[in-house]
Amino acid sequence: MPVVGICSGKGGVGKTTVSANLSAVLTNFGSVAVVDGDVVLPNLHAIFGFEPNVTLIDVISGKARIEDALYRIRVGDISLDVMPSSQTPSEVKNIQAFTNILEELGEAYDFVVVDVAAGLSKYALVPMMGCEKIYIVLNPEETSIMDAWRVRKVIDQMDVDFEGVIVNRYKGEKWAVAMAEKRVGRIAGIIRESKAIKRGWEKSYVVTAVKPEAKVSEEFYLLARRVAGENVYPRPYGKLKYILRL
Ligand SMILES: Nc1ncnc2c1ncn2[C@@H]1O[C@H](COP(=O)(O)OP(=O)(O)O)[C@@H](O)[C@H]1O
Ligand SMILES: [Mg+2]
Repeated sequence: MPVVGICSGKGGVGKTTVSANLSAVLTNFGSVAVVDGDVVLPNLHAIFGFEPNVTLIDVISGKARIEDALYRIRVGDISLDVMPSSQTPSEVKNIQAFTNILEELGEAYDFVVVDVAAGLSKYALVPMMGCEKIYIVLNPEETSIMDAWRVRKVIDQMDVDFEGVIVNRYKGEKWAVAMAEKRVGRIAGIIRESKAIKRGWEKSYVVTAVKPEAKVSEEFYLLARRVAGENVYPRPYGKLKYILRL
């Protein structure tokens, strides 16, 4: 089914955070595989708390089979498959192999989420070409929105569907949501700045899996409903009291 790419202009805006947390909630809607398509800064395995031996790079270079690089992660009732990556950028030149892997995964799972490298280098463009739907993550800052706009321009020239913007680390900046909508495209998700997310990185856990009751998990749930095809929209809200809530 759909292969969903999580992209961004600027680095460090939260692609890996969104990929992991969205994937965990998407398990409510079907089977999920999440792929670390960021061979420049691969760290999806870190948020899931494991050190991989076999990775996507081994599959691309033909040294391993797809199933050897898939790691089943179970947290509470949640179960999903993670394909980690490693830093061997030369291998990613094999565009066809990357696309084939995503296509095969797309046939085996209800949802495949791909954590894509930042920007518009070949390391970002190759995984993007293997996706059917693309979301752009940005932070509520002007530079982040402008970089996202550049990515949107490129997506429009590719054979993929732009599905929307995910505003991450939101602290009540309604102006930024309005600007992102105008410049980049429709808003698919608004995810707050969250201490739980930070702690999750430090302690290697995915917040939506271990704290489904947290406000930020609810926001990921709304995003997952959208990714699953429901017609739901996030609403920008005013000043947050996020410090007290989490
Ligand atoms: N919603 C959030 N709330 C708080 N901190 C966040 C949030 N999203 C991301 N971060 C912080 O930003 C850092 C970078 O996020 P990451 O997902 O690794 O970005 P990217 O994959 O785009 O480089 C994380 O280590 C985390 O500390
Ligand atoms: Mg990342």
